[in-house]
This record gives sequence, C-alpha cells and structure tokens, in this order.
Amino acid sequence: MRSLLGLAALLASARAVVAGSLPDKIYGVNVGGWLVLEPWMLPGEWASMGGSICDDCSTCIQSEWAYTKAYGQDTANREFAQHWTTWFTQDDVNTLVADGINTVRIPLGYWIVEPLVDRTTEFYPEGGIVYLQKGVQMLANAGIQVILDHHALPGVQTAEQSFTGNCTDNVQFYTEYNYQRALVWTAVMTSLVHLDPAFNSVFAIEAVNEPTTDAAQTPNYGTFQKNFVDVVRAVELTLGIPVAGLSLGAEITTSNFTAALGQVANASTVFNPDVRAALAAAAPILVDLAVQLAVPALLDTGLGGGVDRTSLLTTFMDVNWQYDDPPNPADAAIGPQGYDNHLYYSYGGVAAANPTAYLESICNLNRVQTDAGLGDTPLWFGEWGLPTQFDATDEFLYMWADAQKRAYSQGQGWIFWNFKVEQSEAAGNLSRQWSYIEGVNLGYLTKDPADYNNASVCAPYLTSS
Ligand SMILES: *[C@@H]1O[C@H](CO)[C@@H](O)[C@H](O)[C@H]1NC(C)=O
Ligand SMILES: *[C@@H]1O[C@H](CO)[C@@H](O)[C@H](O)[C@H]1NC(C)=O
Ligand SMILES: *[C@@H]1O[C@H](CO)[C@@H](O)[C@H](O)[C@H]1NC(C)=O
Ligand SMILES: *[C@@H]1O[C@H](CO)[C@@H](O)[C@H](O)[C@H]1NC(C)=O
Ligand SMILES: *[C@@H]1O[C@H](CO)[C@@H](O)[C@H](O)[C@H]1NC(C)=O
Repeated sequence: MRSLLGLAALLASARAVVAGSLPDKIYGVNVGGWLVLEPWMLPGEWASMGGSICDDCSTCIQSEWAYTKAYGQDTANREFAQHWTTWFTQDDVNTLVADGINTVRIPLGYWIVEPLVDRTTEFYPEGGIVYLQKGVQMLANAGIQVILDHHALPGVQTAEQSFTGNCTDNVQFYTEYNYQRALVWTAVMTSLVHLDPAFNSVFAIEAVNEPTTDAAQTPNYGTFQKNFVDVVRAVELTLGIPVAGLSLGAEITTSNFTAALGQVANASTVFNPDVRAALAAAAPILVDLAVQLAVPALLDTGLGGGVDRTSLLTTFMDVNWQYDDPPNPADAAIGPQGYDNHLYYSYGGVAAANPTAYLESICNLNRVQTDAGLGDTPLWFGEWGLPTQFDATDEFLYMWADAQKRAYSQGQGWIFWNFKVEQSEAAGNLSRQWSYIEGVNLGYLTKDPADYNNASVCAPYLTSS
C-alpha cells in the first residue's frame, strides 16, 4: 500500500512537469560547448579533431566556421556528429538529476536551422537538429526544464568570440537581412516546441545571447525585439493558443499547421511584413523537418502529440546588458517574458582582483532590484561560474559559490556555466572553477543546489541592509 501511494505520487509529479514551465526558483546549468562548440572548454578533444587555439581566435582554427572552412563539409559533419554524441549524454542528465538541477539552458547556433545558411559564404557543420531533439527528449524524460538560447546569431552578434560560431570583427547581425533570418529561426523553434513532444519541457526561447554592449552599434535592435515577440505569439495564435490582447487578424481554414502559417503570412491584418515574411519562410522548412524529425503534428495538428498549449516565455538579455541608450526589452513584451543577466568576475571590470573585493561586490549586488525598477523581471543569471583573476583557495571557492548563489537567488535563480568542461591534461585545472558537476564533487557547490555551505557567508561584507 505504502509503495503504491509512493508510485501514485511519483506519477503525479511526473505528469506535473510535462509542459515546460518556469520553476519557482531556477537551479540550472548551461549545456555549453555542445551544439555551439567553444574550443577553450575542450582543448584536448578540439586538438584531436584538428582544431587549434591561439591568442587571437580569428587567426587560427578556433571556431565552427574556421573548422568547417578548413576541413570541408563532410569532415566537419562527421567530426561534429561524434562530438554531439559524446559531449552531452544520458549519464550527464542522470548526474544533473542527482545534483538537483531543475533547468538547463541550451546554447544554439542559427545554423541548426540549416536552410538559413548560405553555404557559398558561410561554413558550419550539418546535422545538429537531430541531436537537439534527442537532448531535449532526455531532459523532458528527466523532468528538467529547458531554455532554448539563440547563442550564435546569423551574421555574428559580437566581435572576436568563438561562442558566436565565427571569431571575427566583422559583426553583421544588426542588419535587416540577418534580423530576418533570426526571426525565421524563431518561428521554426517556436513551432517545434509546441508540436514536437520531444520539446515538451522547453518553457523559454532566448532571442540573442550577449549582443554587442554598445547600443549605438546595434541599430534597430529594439524593433527586432518587438518582431521576435510577435513571431512567437503569431505562431502560438496560429495554433489556437490565446495571447491576451492580441489576435491573428487572419482566418485559418486548415489543420495543416505549415499551410496555416502560409495563410497567416498572406492575410494577417495585425502582424507587420517582417513578421509575416518570417512565418512564410518558416513553413517550407517545417515541412521538411516534419519528415526529418518525424513530427506529424506539423502537417496536421490533430496528429502525434498534438499541441503543447503553454505560452513560451520570450527571453532577452536585460536592458542593463547594453549601454548608450539601449532599447528596453520590457517594451516588447506581450505575454510571459523573462530576462537574463550574465556575470563573470574573471574578465575584469567588476571588482578588484582579490577575494575580499569579490565578496564585497557580490554580497551587495543590486542588479535584480535595478532591473525590476525598469520592468525587467523576472530576472535570472543565465551565466556565471567560479573563475577568478587570482589563484583561488578551496576555502575561498566555498564562499564564492555560496555568495554568488545567494545574490542570484534574490531574482528568479541561476544557471551555471557550464554543466562540465573537459577533464584532461590539456585542460589542466579548468574544471575546478568552470564545471558544475566537478564543483559539486569538490564540495564548493552543495549537493542540494538550494543549500549553502554557509548561509551567513555575506554577513561580514554587507554594506547596507
Ligand atoms: C567570419 O570570419 C571570417 C574570418 O575568419 C570573415 O572573413 C567573415 O566575414 C566572417 N563572417 C561573418 C558573417 O562575420
Ligand atoms: C501541408 O501543407 C504544406 C504547405 O502548404 C504542404 O507542403 C504539405 O504537403 C501539406 N501536407 C499535408 C499532409 O497536407
Ligand atoms: C498566399 O498568396 C499567394 C499569392 O496570392 C498564393 O499564391 C498562395 O497560394 C497563398 N498561400 C496560402 C498558404 O494561402
Ligand atoms: C591546480 O590546482 C592545484 C590546487 O589549487 C594547484 O596546486 C596546481 O598547481 C594547479 N595546477 C595547475 C596546472 O594550474
Ligand atoms: C559562516 O560565515 C560567517 C561569516 O563569515 C562566520 O562568522 C561563521 O563562522 C561561518 N560559519 C561556519 C560554520 O563556518
């Protein structure tokens, strides 16, 4: 009897997480280095693939672009398939469950939607979408909530960073052509989330990871933010998911979802031409994905898993990510929205390079309150870690982990970068401060993520109440 009751409770709790939803408090990790490969996180594997690492990453084979250009499509496809299979596995998911992780943020490149890539001038491996589908299915089975993060944008959104897929100073994202490609990506992903049961635990889509911080260099980014939200909501309205205060402005006469997108693109009196063009361009891509990923509901919403009817949280980096009169993403919100801030001390510019200054800074962090004052709430910290500009003692890292978790939990919670990094001779001590799983093994991060080694860690450092 007792075990039967236990089973019923288990089933009830399993059912409760079927549709993705924002956790009351996010205890999360990034699955970085996977579908957007950042060589520094896996130096040994990258070298064995034939890549390199250098001081200026634009001058050697240190990005997916540079790799695919150097070795060609077939080699890139084969080598990356191997990486996608081995970097993030069911064993990892099991470990995350055992460590109490309730949320995962998955960095993605625009090239995972393959028809968006102009292969005459752009170089990326093919085949990632199938691995994404397998990965989100594993996470859904485990009851872990998922954020799909558009991490590497068409045209490159930030200079000189391998995480954009192409380490270059030629930043071209902030143009009509590339904004439009990002909107098509958004329409495709939103459709998959609602119609492919594998994506059931996705609750948010993040528009742009770490855009250029000077808003004077990101023209029309505010318009893009509004179009991004419109695309998500237009897809949802097309599926019959209500959006408060918004209607489709078009009649749908088919249960074939891809055809319905075409009808909305043609007829909507509500959505602007950019949004309608994105829906129109997404439709044929989804017709192909219906076959490739075996998602019959894309061609008839009555088939397969049917429609996941929970509105997605549209998500942006917070307004304070940028300076120079940035657009406020709060102005773009229609329906549920979330905000993401990232904080790393190791790159400088945050606090003096010593343990006391770090703790004084983090213990008095007021970003959650400042953002809330501007309407950017709920706010979570979608990237942070334990790295430092100085050699950190074990004693310090216990405090550093506690104090950061405490600061970020004043908001909606936190997502550590990264779930793991390579452990090898080439990687040295990298995992000690960059791997969540290793941080738990070493005890800096508590086995229950809601716990602290010392909940009073900040008491000596608070400057005001
Ligand atoms: C990618 O980087 C190369 C240099 O390696 C550069 O020539 C090219 O313009 C970049 N592409 C984009 C879209 O920025
Ligand atoms: C659904 O509509 C698309 C786009 O119009 C079309 O290509 C496809 O053949 C249709 N599929 C079915 C099963 O009707
Ligand atoms: C959209 O309009 C074009 C041009 O009038 C027409 O050819 C096409 O069939 C329409 N598509 C849908 C899905 O209604
Ligand atoms: C790794 O960390 C340990 C402990 O802090 C230290 O003794 C060792 O020198 C470090 N090794 C490298 C390669 O940084
Ligand atoms: C926890 O941290 C506070 C503040 O630094 C300190 O006074 C206290 O002794 C610590 N508790 C333990 C058990 O280490």
